[in-house]
Amino acid sequence: MNNIIVSPSILSADFANLERDIKLVEDNGADWIHVDVMDGHFVPNITIGIPVVKSLKRFAQKPLDVHLMIENPEKYIEDFAKAGADIITFHYEAVNPDKIEEFCNKIKSLGCKAGISIKPKTNQKVLIPYLEFVDMVLVMTVEPGFGGQEFMHFCAQKIPEIRQYGKEDLIVQVDGGINDITSKICISLGANSLVAGSYIYKSKDVKKAIESLRV
Ligand code: DX5
Ligand code: ZN
Repeated sequence: MNNIIVSPSILSADFANLERDIKLVEDNGADWIHVDVMDGHFVPNITIGIPVVKSLKRFAQKPLDVHLMIENPEKYIEDFAKAGADIITFHYEAVNPDKIEEFCNKIKSLGCKAGISIKPKTNQKVLIPYLEFVDMVLVMTVEPGFGGQEFMHFCAQKIPEIRQYGKEDLIVQVDGGINDITSKICISLGANSLVAGSYIYKSKDVKKAIESLRV
């Protein structure tokens, strides 16, 4: 047993059957449900937004882990929180660094956990001044925008330094190209939350796939 948080990404689910596909992972060991919000500006893809999060909240039993890949996230966090997000992660690259503390406090005052994420080209050192304000750091291990991409090993190498400077209960999450092999690499480097989309949803045995990420 360990305390790895597995957060299946519904980006790889069937969008016409989200209730079925969320139940599938919830019944088979998921801890959180990862919801990828993309705006076509911050990333070159458009996915889902506030009304969908609100609908998911009607049936989801597990916390909604909302990953905002959008510009001006500060404009929308209140709406996402009201819609039912439990964890709100925004991108360092999408905000004014001077506002990060205030922004994290706002997210927490809305009753959510606050996460900050960095893209592959962003150095982990930029996060050091803000680690005390966040509950989670999300280290992207692919360029954000699409599921099914290949894991970038150099991104995982950012984890130990984040662990070194982060508080003891900081959650370090990885997202992109996570499978039963890359999950081990990330866990050994200090990650304790794993997002996986295609690996889980394309597997024939979802329970086994989720279990295989933890050990
Ligand atoms: C990519 C998203 C991921 C995506 C991961 O921008 O943030 O959450 O769903 O997909 P896989 O696990 O297929 O790489
Ligand atoms: Zn994501």
